[in-house]
Amino acid sequence: MSVQDVPSPIDLKNPQDALQWANEANEKRPWRYEFFDYYVNLIQKAAKEKHYQTDQNTQFNILEIGSGPGFLAKHLLTQCADIEYTALDFSDAMHELSKSKLLSSELDRVQYLIADFKNEDWRDQLGQYDAIIIHQALHELRHKNYANQFHQQVKTLLKRDALYLVCDHIFASDAMSNNDLYMSKHEHFQSLKYAGFTDIELVKEIKGLCLFECYL
Ligand SMILES: C[S@@+](CC[C@H](N)C(=O)[O-])C[C@H]1O[C@@H](n2cnc3c(N)ncnc32)[C@H](O)[C@@H]1O
Repeated sequence: MSVQDVPSPIDLKNPQDALQWANEANEKRPWRYEFFDYYVNLIQKAAKEKHYQTDQNTQFNILEIGSGPGFLAKHLLTQCADIEYTALDFSDAMHELSKSKLLSSELDRVQYLIADFKNEDWRDQLGQYDAIIIHQALHELRHKNYANQFHQQVKTLLKRDALYLVCDHIFASDAMSNNDLYMSKHEHFQSLKYAGFTDIELVKEIKGLCLFECYL
Protein backbone atom coordinates (compact mmCIF):
# COMPACT_ATOMS: atom_id res chain seq x y z
CA MET A 1 0.00 0.00 0.00
CA SER A 2 1.43 3.38 -0.92
CA VAL A 3 2.11 5.87 1.85
CA GLN A 4 0.60 9.33 1.67
CA ASP A 5 3.05 11.87 3.13
CA VAL A 6 1.60 14.34 5.63
CA PRO A 7 2.29 17.82 4.25
CA SER A 8 4.40 20.15 6.39
CA PRO A 9 2.72 23.42 7.45
CA ILE A 10 6.08 25.21 7.20
CA ASP A 11 8.91 25.34 4.62
CA LEU A 12 12.02 24.83 6.75
CA LYS A 13 14.29 25.59 3.77
CA ASN A 14 12.83 29.07 3.54
CA PRO A 15 14.97 31.55 5.60
CA GLN A 16 11.93 33.32 7.07
CA ASP A 17 10.18 30.09 8.09
CA ALA A 18 13.45 28.75 9.52
CA LEU A 19 13.93 31.91 11.58
CA GLN A 20 10.34 31.78 12.80
CA TRP A 21 10.78 28.15 13.91
CA ALA A 22 14.03 29.06 15.67
CA ASN A 23 12.44 32.04 17.44
CA GLU A 24 9.51 30.01 18.74
CA ALA A 25 10.93 26.56 19.52
CA ASN A 26 12.38 27.22 22.98
CA GLU A 27 9.62 29.60 24.03
CA LYS A 28 6.98 27.02 23.19
CA ARG A 29 8.89 24.20 24.85
CA PRO A 30 11.48 25.51 27.34
CA TRP A 31 11.84 21.92 28.62
CA ARG A 32 13.76 21.11 25.43
CA TYR A 33 16.85 22.10 27.45
CA GLU A 34 16.22 19.28 29.93
CA PHE A 35 16.71 16.88 27.03
CA PHE A 36 19.80 18.77 25.87
CA ASP A 37 21.26 18.49 29.39
CA TYR A 38 20.60 14.76 29.34
CA TYR A 39 22.58 14.44 26.07
CA VAL A 40 25.46 16.44 27.51
CA ASN A 41 25.70 14.24 30.63
CA LEU A 42 25.54 11.04 28.66
CA ILE A 43 28.07 12.20 26.07
CA GLN A 44 30.50 13.52 28.66
CA LYS A 45 30.42 10.10 30.34
CA ALA A 46 30.71 8.13 27.09
CA ALA A 47 33.53 10.34 25.80
CA LYS A 48 35.45 9.93 29.07
CA GLU A 49 34.99 6.16 28.88
CA LYS A 50 36.22 6.09 25.28
CA HIS A 51 39.20 8.25 26.18
CA TYR A 52 40.00 5.90 29.08
CA GLN A 53 39.67 2.76 26.95
CA THR A 54 41.73 3.97 24.02
CA ASP A 55 44.19 5.83 26.22
CA GLN A 56 44.83 8.48 23.60
CA ASN A 57 43.43 11.75 22.34
CA THR A 58 40.61 10.20 20.34
CA GLN A 59 37.68 12.40 19.43
CA PHE A 60 34.11 11.43 20.15
CA ASN A 61 32.12 11.78 16.92
CA ILE A 62 28.52 12.93 17.07
CA LEU A 63 26.02 13.19 14.23
CA GLU A 64 22.86 15.22 14.68
CA ILE A 65 20.21 14.51 12.03
CA GLY A 66 17.83 17.39 11.33
CA SER A 67 20.11 19.67 13.33
CA GLY A 68 18.15 22.86 12.62
CA PRO A 69 19.23 26.26 13.95
CA GLY A 70 21.99 24.89 16.18
CA PHE A 71 20.55 25.01 19.68
CA LEU A 72 21.84 21.56 20.52
CA ALA A 73 25.10 22.17 18.65
CA LYS A 74 25.80 25.18 20.90
CA HIS A 75 24.85 23.24 24.04
CA LEU A 76 27.10 20.29 23.18
CA LEU A 77 30.09 22.20 21.87
CA THR A 78 30.28 24.50 24.88
CA GLN A 79 30.07 21.63 27.37
CA CYS A 80 31.76 18.63 25.75
CA ALA A 81 35.41 19.34 25.04
CA ASP A 82 36.41 16.21 23.15
CA ILE A 83 33.71 16.03 20.52
CA GLU A 84 33.60 16.42 16.77
CA TYR A 85 30.06 17.31 15.78
CA THR A 86 28.42 16.80 12.37
CA ALA A 87 25.22 18.69 11.59
CA LEU A 88 23.03 17.20 8.88
CA ASP A 89 20.05 19.10 7.56
CA PHE A 90 18.41 19.71 4.18
CA SER A 91 18.05 23.43 4.93
CA ASP A 92 20.85 25.86 4.19
CA ALA A 93 18.86 28.48 6.08
CA MET A 94 18.98 26.33 9.23
CA HIS A 95 22.73 25.77 8.84
CA GLU A 96 23.27 29.53 8.53
CA LEU A 97 21.34 30.15 11.75
CA SER A 98 23.41 27.44 13.43
CA LYS A 99 26.74 28.87 12.24
CA SER A 100 25.76 32.32 13.53
CA LYS A 101 25.50 30.93 17.09
CA LEU A 102 28.95 29.37 17.23
CA LEU A 103 32.34 30.85 18.05
CA SER A 104 35.14 30.17 15.58
CA SER A 105 36.74 27.76 18.09
CA GLU A 106 33.43 25.85 18.13
CA LEU A 107 33.04 25.99 14.36
CA ASP A 108 36.45 24.28 14.09
CA ARG A 109 34.85 21.16 15.56
CA VAL A 110 31.77 21.16 13.30
CA GLN A 111 31.06 19.75 9.88
CA TYR A 112 27.90 21.02 8.16
CA LEU A 113 26.30 18.68 5.64
CA ILE A 114 23.32 19.23 3.39
CA ALA A 115 21.33 16.04 2.80
CA ASP A 116 17.69 14.98 2.62
CA PHE A 117 17.12 11.92 4.78
CA LYS A 118 14.15 10.95 2.64
CA ASN A 119 16.54 10.32 -0.26
CA GLU A 120 18.11 6.90 -0.71
CA ASP A 121 21.62 8.43 -0.86
CA TRP A 122 21.39 10.62 2.27
CA ARG A 123 24.22 8.75 4.01
CA ASP A 124 26.75 9.11 1.18
CA GLN A 125 28.84 11.87 2.81
CA LEU A 126 28.72 10.36 6.29
CA GLY A 127 31.17 8.34 8.36
CA GLN A 128 30.83 6.29 11.53
CA TYR A 129 29.76 7.87 14.78
CA ASP A 130 29.95 7.29 18.54
CA ALA A 131 26.56 8.91 19.01
CA ILE A 132 23.71 9.85 16.70
CA ILE A 133 20.95 12.19 17.83
CA ILE A 134 17.67 13.03 16.16
CA HIS A 135 15.74 15.58 18.20
CA GLN A 136 12.23 16.67 17.18
CA ALA A 137 12.97 15.72 13.58
CA LEU A 138 11.93 12.07 13.16
CA HIS A 139 8.41 13.18 12.25
CA GLU A 140 9.98 15.14 9.37
CA LEU A 141 9.96 11.80 7.55
CA ARG A 142 6.35 13.00 7.12
CA HIS A 143 4.91 9.53 7.78
CA LYS A 144 5.59 7.05 10.57
CA ASN A 145 5.77 4.17 8.07
CA TYR A 146 9.22 5.37 6.98
CA ALA A 147 10.66 5.06 10.50
CA ASN A 148 11.66 1.37 10.35
CA GLN A 149 13.81 1.86 7.28
CA PHE A 150 15.23 5.11 8.62
CA HIS A 151 16.37 3.48 11.88
CA GLN A 152 17.91 0.63 9.87
CA GLN A 153 19.86 3.18 7.82
CA VAL A 154 21.04 4.95 10.98
CA LYS A 155 22.23 1.62 12.35
CA THR A 156 24.82 1.37 9.55
CA LEU A 157 26.38 4.67 10.70
CA LEU A 158 27.00 3.60 14.29
CA LYS A 159 30.33 2.42 15.62
CA ARG A 160 30.43 -0.55 17.98
CA ASP A 161 28.85 0.28 21.37
CA ALA A 162 27.56 3.56 19.96
CA LEU A 163 24.55 5.41 21.20
CA TYR A 164 21.39 6.32 19.27
CA LEU A 165 19.15 8.98 20.82
CA VAL A 166 15.71 9.52 19.36
CA CYS A 167 13.52 12.25 20.76
CA ASP A 168 10.18 13.19 19.25
CA HIS A 169 6.61 14.12 20.02
CA ILE A 170 4.44 11.09 20.55
CA PHE A 171 0.93 10.19 19.45
CA ALA A 172 -1.22 9.99 22.61
CA SER A 173 -4.51 11.35 23.92
CA ASP A 174 -2.68 14.13 25.80
CA ALA A 175 -0.06 14.73 23.10
CA MET A 176 -0.08 14.77 19.28
CA SER A 177 -3.24 13.64 17.53
CA ASN A 178 -1.99 12.68 14.06
CA ASN A 179 -1.12 8.99 14.13
CA ASP A 180 0.18 9.01 10.54
CA LEU A 181 2.88 11.50 11.47
CA TYR A 182 3.58 10.68 15.13
CA MET A 183 4.07 7.30 16.77
CA SER A 184 2.82 6.08 20.11
CA LYS A 185 5.44 5.03 22.65
CA HIS A 186 4.71 1.41 21.76
CA GLU A 187 5.20 2.12 18.04
CA HIS A 188 8.56 3.78 18.77
CA PHE A 189 9.73 0.68 20.67
CA GLN A 190 8.47 -1.62 17.90
CA SER A 191 10.16 0.37 15.16
CA LEU A 192 13.52 0.56 16.95
CA LYS A 193 13.37 -3.15 17.77
CA TYR A 194 12.48 -3.99 14.16
CA ALA A 195 15.56 -2.06 13.03
CA GLY A 196 17.77 -4.22 15.24
CA PHE A 197 18.24 -2.18 18.41
CA THR A 198 18.17 -4.54 21.37
CA ASP A 199 18.63 -2.22 24.32
CA ILE A 200 15.97 0.49 24.12
CA GLU A 201 14.85 2.60 27.05
CA LEU A 202 12.43 5.50 27.37
CA VAL A 203 14.65 7.71 29.51
CA LYS A 204 12.80 11.02 29.54
CA GLU A 205 9.26 12.18 28.91
CA ILE A 206 8.00 15.73 29.28
CA LYS A 207 4.65 16.95 27.97
CA GLY A 208 4.44 14.48 25.09
CA LEU A 209 8.10 14.74 24.10
CA CYS A 210 9.81 11.36 24.59
CA LEU A 211 13.47 10.38 24.48
CA PHE A 212 14.51 6.84 23.61
CA GLU A 213 18.09 5.80 24.36
CA CYS A 214 19.11 2.88 22.16
CA TYR A 215 22.07 0.52 21.74
CA LEU A 216 22.60 -2.32 19.30
C1 LIG B 1 11.56 20.68 13.90
S1 LIG B 1 13.19 21.10 13.37
C2 LIG B 1 14.22 20.51 14.71
C3 LIG B 1 15.58 21.13 14.71
C4 LIG B 1 16.52 20.71 15.85
N1 LIG B 1 16.70 19.29 15.90
C5 LIG B 1 16.03 21.24 17.18
O1 LIG B 1 15.29 20.52 17.87
O2 LIG B 1 16.37 22.38 17.54
C6 LIG B 1 13.45 19.83 12.15
C7 LIG B 1 14.70 20.01 11.34
O3 LIG B 1 14.79 18.92 10.41
C8 LIG B 1 15.15 19.42 9.14
N2 LIG B 1 14.58 18.51 8.13
C9 LIG B 1 13.27 18.35 7.83
N3 LIG B 1 13.12 17.43 6.88
C10 LIG B 1 14.37 17.00 6.56
C11 LIG B 1 14.86 16.06 5.64
N4 LIG B 1 14.03 15.38 4.85
N5 LIG B 1 16.20 15.85 5.56
C12 LIG B 1 17.05 16.57 6.36
N6 LIG B 1 16.62 17.49 7.27
C13 LIG B 1 15.30 17.70 7.36
C14 LIG B 1 14.57 20.81 9.08
O4 LIG B 1 15.21 21.65 8.15
C15 LIG B 1 14.74 21.29 10.52
O5 LIG B 1 15.98 21.92 10.68
